[in-house]
Amino acid sequence: MSQSPKNIMITGGAGFIGSHVVRLFVKKYPQSKIVNVDKLTYAGNLNNLKDIEDAPNYKFVKADIADLDKMREIIKDNEITGIIHLAAESHVDRSIKDPFTFARTNVMGTLALLQAAKEYWDSLPEKYEGKLFYHISTDEVYGALEITNPEGVKAPFTTKASADDHMAFGVDFFVETTKYDPHSPYSASKASSDHFVRAYHDTYGMPTIVTNCSNNYGPYQFPEKLIPLFINNILQGKNLPVYGKGENVRDWLFVEDHARAIDLIFHKGKPGDTYNIGGFNEWKNIDLIKVVIKTVDRLTGKPEGTSEHLITYVTDRLGHDMRYAIDSRKLQKELGWEPSLQFEEGIEKTVKWYLDNKDWVDNVTSGDYEKYYDQMYKNR
Ligand code: NAD
Ligand code: DAU
Repeated sequence: MSQSPKNIMITGGAGFIGSHVVRLFVKKYPQSKIVNVDKLTYAGNLNNLKDIEDAPNYKFVKADIADLDKMREIIKDNEITGIIHLAAESHVDRSIKDPFTFARTNVMGTLALLQAAKEYWDSLPEKYEGKLFYHISTDEVYGALEITNPEGVKAPFTTKASADDHMAFGVDFFVETTKYDPHSPYSASKASSDHFVRAYHDTYGMPTIVTNCSNNYGPYQFPEKLIPLFINNILQGKNLPVYGKGENVRDWLFVEDHARAIDLIFHKGKPGDTYNIGGFNEWKNIDLIKVVIKTVDRLTGKPEGTSEHLITYVTDRLGHDMRYAIDSRKLQKELGWEPSLQFEEGIEKTVKWYLDNKDWVDNVTSGDYEKYYDQMYKNR
């Protein structure tokens, strides 16, 4: 797509990744109207966007993406030309307890959004010209990889080595053509939504892009996910519940690097295509947890490692995928994206942010942000 002014709808913009994408777009594209559509579930928080909420090119609409009529109305009223779709139920543990909510939002919600966009764009004289439906998905749709490195997953699995160095090491990664093999209700719902997006491209010719990203971390992540939960628990002297033996491996990317990739792909990506996003930064959970502990200890003036006694091994997550690892060479080679931060720098920034924003954590865990929403937006 060209960088001309356009009306961009970002769904899930009050969530973790969505708020970083909204902030980037509002600041970088003052000529574009950015419409943030979010239901404000427990994971959505308008405090995440306080710094840009009064920007003239920003608008918030509280709505459920599964409400087809409402999606039709928002897309038509705002003459939307591009959609970046992040709204989702996103936590694997919740999906194990309540799969229906995940099917409703992730599958039916995505379908409603696709249909509403199709109807509006079909009604215009230029139809799909200059339009894009960009769907944000996850590496979890590809299933799980084995840990094939007998040394355990350490160097060279960091952003310090080049993409080709990683390949030369001869272990498996998810590529864009890897067969889908989701295991959790969350990843099954995301896989299903990805299939619907591609079906709208293949059947109706809608310009769509799907990207599959690895684990994100950084400011504004809800403290139920591993890194913010553990930072918060260390600060409160609470146990750190490590699932199973702590040997599962995840591939971590700083959230602002994901937001930059989304911006690049939205503007330069090829409609109909898929891109994997990841920073070649694999960590065994227990090794990552020790880095988090050391960082929190150091930044709170304690000898590094003091809080390791909080580590508590607990019953494993049902169907716990062993390893995720993204090969992002296509994105790096075709569009020139690369991660900007080393993991240790990203963790340092993240821990500092949580230390400086204890009120934010208190609010999201106490429900105060709902009161904030009522005061700010109920009568608009
Ligand atoms: P999040 O849970 O922090 O935020 C989700 C947002 O969607 C919230 O603001 C919530 O209010 C909103 N939402 C939920 N249901 C809705 C509905 N029915 N209608 C409208 N809004 C609704 O999630 P996140 O971690 O920021 O993830 C965003 C997207 O990126 C998701 O699609 C997720 O699958 C994908 N993703 C996440 C990661 C990760 O590590 N967090 C990695 C890869 C891909
Ligand atoms: O890979 C991308 C995915 O990453 C995204 O699609 C999901 O939305 C996002 O939630 C994340 O999924 P994970 O399940 O990998 O993230 P989570 O933070 O829940 O867990 C990371 C790892 O840590 C995983 O192996 C489970 C483990 N874990 C997690 C929690 C919350 C623990 O050992 N203890 C915990 O308390």
